[in-house]
Amino acid sequence: MSVAVLTGAGVSAESGVPTFRGAGGLWRQFRAEDLATADAFRRDPRLVWEWYAWRREVVAACQPNAAHRTIAQMEQAAPDFTLVTQNVDGLHERAGSRHVLRLHGSLWTLRCTREGIRVENHEVPLAALPPRCACGALLRPDVVWFGESLELDTVTAALTAARRADLLLVVGTSALVTPAANLPLVTLEHRGRVVEFNVERTWLSDYVDETILGPAAETLPQWWAEYQSSPQGRG
Ligand code: OAD
Repeated sequence: MSVAVLTGAGVSAESGVPTFRGAGGLWRQFRAEDLATADAFRRDPRLVWEWYAWRREVVAACQPNAAHRTIAQMEQAAPDFTLVTQNVDGLHERAGSRHVLRLHGSLWTLRCTREGIRVENHEVPLAALPPRCACGALLRPDVVWFGESLELDTVTAALTAARRADLLLVVGTSALVTPAANLPLVTLEHRGRVVEFNVERTWLSDYVDETILGPAAETLPQWWAEYQSSPQGRG
């Protein structure tokens, strides 16, 4: 039995991390093109860094919730398991998930704009804004900005997992950003079962096998407990 999970900002909502769309969403308060593009960074690296430094501070003050913990338990319990996330917050890792395919990068890795090398950095607050590499060049957040390509290896691994999955759980995403949004369709095309967890219906709800409405920190642990005691979960 191959199990995959795709998460979006909604899985971290109950931890206190703002989502992107909807009421209180980041893209309601800020213009993405001012903050999450390579052009914006070239124009004003400090402004872009202030925004990411603020997001790092918000996340550092948050704790993983029961949905993150349940997903970490799934990894332990299912021999063939893949977690794919669009989130950059690192809460899956803090909840105990070991292997995470991070489609959109991480707030906790910085990348040298000259040499491309990556450095892990958990400093909150950051000592210098904008931070610089030992080589003197600017460091940028190691996240995927609008107009940029995703890491090919990561996308390939995510697509492979979606194709293989007998069961894909889609948790807390509006499924509006590709290629993440395509993963559930890939699973369905290959006759896998897709279960969506969200506080509201999305466009995907019309296509998936089941949509479970409610906060993921409640619905996912409950679903997992029931699944484990079902013949399918035991088998
Ligand atoms: P969105 O903000 O687009 O969607 C969050 C989804 O979570 C919505 O469908 C909400 O209804 C749902 N939601 C909110 N609270 C929830 C809860 N407690 N339990 C379950 N679901 C809940 O976030 P993403 O789908 O992750 O990309 O957005 C995808 C990408 O768009 C992000 O990774 C980011 C953004 O632009 C980049 O920065 C590259």
